[in-house]
Amino acid sequence: MKILITGANGMLAKAMKEELKGEELICTDVAELDITNAEQVNEFIKKVSPEYIINCAAYTAVDKAEENEELVYKINAIGPKNLAVAANDNNAILIHISTDYVFGGDKPIEQDYSEDDPKNPQAVYGTTKLAGERFIQENCSKYYIFRTAWLYGEGHNFVRTMLDLAKTRDEVKVVNDQHGSPTYAVDLASIIHQAMNKKIEFGVYNSTNLGYTTWYDFTKMIFEIENVKCKVTPVTSEEFKSPAKRPKNSQMSKDKLLKNGIIIPTYEEALRRYLSK
Ligand SMILES: NC(=O)c1ccc[n+]([C@@H]2O[C@H](COP(=O)([O-])OP(=O)(O)OC[C@H]3O[C@@H](n4cnc5c(N)ncnc54)[C@H](OP(=O)(O)O)[C@@H]3O)[C@@H](O)[C@H]2O)c1
Repeated sequence: MKILITGANGMLAKAMKEELKGEELICTDVAELDITNAEQVNEFIKKVSPEYIINCAAYTAVDKAEENEELVYKINAIGPKNLAVAANDNNAILIHISTDYVFGGDKPIEQDYSEDDPKNPQAVYGTTKLAGERFIQENCSKYYIFRTAWLYGEGHNFVRTMLDLAKTRDEVKVVNDQHGSPTYAVDLASIIHQAMNKKIEFGVYNSTNLGYTTWYDFTKMIFEIENVKCKVTPVTSEEFKSPAKRPKNSQMSKDKLLKNGIIIPTYEEALRRYLSK
C-alpha cells in the first residue's frame, strides 16, 4: 500500500512509521509538504497518488494556541480541508486525527462521550480541530477521523515531564479534576492500522487506550511503576491556572471501535509497556 504521512516528525507520526514499516511510505515534514498550502497539497497528492493519506500534522500547543488563533486555524482547519479536497479528487482515503477537546467536557463523570454527542469546544485548539473535522466531512467521502486524547510516546510528553520533575523536587502538584484516558501513541498507531486492515466503515471513531483516570492518579501510577519517591499532591484546575480551559470530562467511549473487533490495550498496560522500553 502506498501511504502518505504528513507532519512526519511528530509524536504520532513516529509511531505510525514504525507500525507501517512494511508498507510503501512517503513521509513529509512541513518543509516538504505544508498542509496549509492548497496548491502544493493538490500537486503533491496528484503526483504521488497515495492509497491512504495519514494526516499527523497539527498545531498541538494547546495554551500557545490561545494567542495564535489565525495560524492555528490554518493548520488545524484549513490544512485538513486541503487534504480532504485533494484526497477526494485523487481517490485516496484520508485518515485524520482529532481530539477529545471538541467536546465541552461538562458531562457528569459517570458518563463518557460517544462519537455523536454534541460538540462544544472550550478553547482555540478544540475549536479549530472541530472545524477541521467538519471540513473533512464536507469535502471528502472516504475518511476516518480518529479522536484521541492525552497522547504520549517518543519525544516530549507528560510521562517524561513528571519523571524529570521528580529528579529535582520532592513534591509535584497535579490536577485531580480532569478525567480521561492517557493514550500511548504506539497503541493509537496500531488502532489505525487495524482499522485500515479491517476496512471498517468510514467515519469518526473515539480512539484512546481503555480505562479512565485523572492526571493525578496517572502521575501516582507512573511514580509507583518507576519506584520514584516523590509526593504527588492533588490540585484543582482552578488552582493550576492555564491559558486554555481544559475539559473536566474527557472520557470517550470506545464501543464503536470495539464493536468493529479492534483490539485496544488498557492505559495501565500501555504505560507499563512504555516505561519498560
Ligand atoms: N498530543 C496530544 O496529547 C494529542 C491529544 C489529542 C489529539 N492529538 C492529535 O493527534 C495528532 C498527532 O499529535 P502529535 O502529538 O503527534 O503532534 P506533534 O508531535 O505536535 O506533531 C505535529 C507535527 O505537525 C507538523 N506541522 C505543523 N504545521 C504543519 C504544516 N503546516 N504542514 C505540515 N506539517 C506541520 C509539526 O512540525 P513542526 O514541529 O516542525 O512545527 C509536527 O511535526 C494531532 O492531530 C493532534 O491534534 C494530540
